[in-house]
Order: sequence, then structure tokens, then C-alpha cells
Amino acid sequence: MTFVVTESCIRCKYTDCVSVCPVDCFHEGPNFLVIDPDECIDCGVCVPECPANAIYADSDLPPDQAEFLGLNAQLSRQWPVISSAKEPMPDADAWRDATPKRTFLIATAEA
Ligand code: SF4
Ligand code: F3S
Repeated sequence: MTFVVTESCIRCKYTDCVSVCPVDCFHEGPNFLVIDPDECIDCGVCVPECPANAIYADSDLPPDQAEFLGLNAQLSRQWPVISSAKEPMPDADAWRDATPKRTFLIATAEA
């Protein structure tokens, strides 16, 4: 089992999740965070902290977000660990409820 960051995080990166996570399992890309499934201890404390409601247990992942299970595993190997919270992205509030926004995910460059 692991927890998974989904589409709602894209272009927001509120990072409240990072400040409560007891281990270093969040990794940061240009406009999205992911959870390393090998580090996540399944505590669930990050879920209610996300203003965008972006985090789910893999067993509760909405069907239209299934792709993000693999994306979290893949991108957590490419992106650096983020271990403390930072300011959200400049237009985070405007993008929080926008959908769909999968197309805006920047999956290659580092943060
Ligand atoms: Fe971190 Fe717990 Fe969230 Fe996993 S479930 S990412 S260990 S806060
Ligand atoms: Fe993203 Fe929510 Fe964390 S927007 S950075 S998953 S608090």
C-alpha cells in the first residue's frame, strides 16, 4: 500500500503535506509533488492537510486518477526530496479546483 498524489496538486504545490509527513517521501517537480511508494509508511496524516484534496490511499484512488499510481513511483525516482514546506505556486488558488489539468503536468525537468 502507498498514498498517491493526484491531478489536483498540479500547478498548486501547497506543500502542507510535506510539513506533516513523518518521513521524507515527498519529491518535488516543477509544478507537482509525488510520493515515493517505497518510503511512505501509510500513516495518512497528509490527506486532510492538502487544500486541494489531492492525496489518496492507493486503495481509494478514483478510477480516473489511476495513472497517478505509476506516475508517483516513476517521478519520485527522478525528482529530489522536498523535506520542508514552501510557498505555494503563485496561482495556486486559481488552479485548485480547475479540472482537467493533467495536460499541464511537467514531468521531465527538476523543480
Ligand atoms: Fe507521508 Fe504518511 Fe502521507 Fe505517506 S501517508 S506520504 S508517510 S504523511
Ligand atoms: Fe500538492 Fe496538496 Fe501537497 S497541493 S503539494 S499534495 S498539500
